[in-house]
Amino acid sequence: MRKKFVAGNWKMNPTSAHDVVRLATEVIVGLKDEGRVTAALCPPFPYLGLLDTLLKQHKSQVLLGGQNCYIEKDGAFTGEVSPAMLLDTGCKYVILGHSERRHKMGESDAFINQKVGAALAAGLEVILCIGETLAEREGNQTEAVLDRQVTQGLADVKELSKLVIAYEPVWAIGTGKNATPQQAQDAHAFIRRRVGQLYGDPAAQALIIQYGGSVKPDNAATLLGQPDVDGALVGGAALKADQFLPIVRAGIL
Ligand code: 13P
Repeated sequence: MRKKFVAGNWKMNPTSAHDVVRLATEVIVGLKDEGRVTAALCPPFPYLGLLDTLLKQHKSQVLLGGQNCYIEKDGAFTGEVSPAMLLDTGCKYVILGHSERRHKMGESDAFINQKVGAALAAGLEVILCIGETLAEREGNQTEAVLDRQVTQGLADVKELSKLVIAYEPVWAIGTGKNATPQQAQDAHAFIRRRVGQLYGDPAAQALIIQYGGSVKPDNAATLLGQPDVDGALVGGAALKADQFLPIVRAGIL
């Protein structure tokens, strides 16, 4: 049985330390002693230290993640953050390959693969995001795109115990238009089959595959109820504790 894993990807929100503390505290208090589902928060870089302190103060089981990192350990890379810095700031996870980085920042599968390698080597766990655009889905390219993103994103990765995959169809992100539970299940089953071909069945069966894209309290239970949907990566609804908490709890059922 895979334990469900729900993470909040706050993206470039909230915009003040005051709001960060308020949101995080509501989530932390709401999930006090909740061990049946894994929960993580991924705030913007400037607030990681603040959240780390808050989580420790509350002895919270909620975990911390970064939203990106660079491929080098240190050096003259203005504006970048290394995997070791994320670890040092209390992160267990880093989100890599998010569609906003692929499509708005132009990150390629090869570059994302370098980041995956650097993050794993440093000791972070990676949430690798993959997903097709609407044009790719309508052109029957979904499986080919997922295949490419998995194969190239994981090139040279030897084993998957520190890896989570998030299936996030681009057309469902921030649009209010979530994949149907069956669409999500089909994509997740395909990803798991493909991972099984690459890494063997035990690794594929153990792999956590989150769904992301307009997850809300009212669709979380049916999405998370699919056999191959092991959790959620939540954007907009992670910015309100009264929406995020029921989504996390949907993972308990
Ligand atoms: P929304 O939940 O806002 O659609 O965002 C999903 C996402 O991109 C999570 O990484």
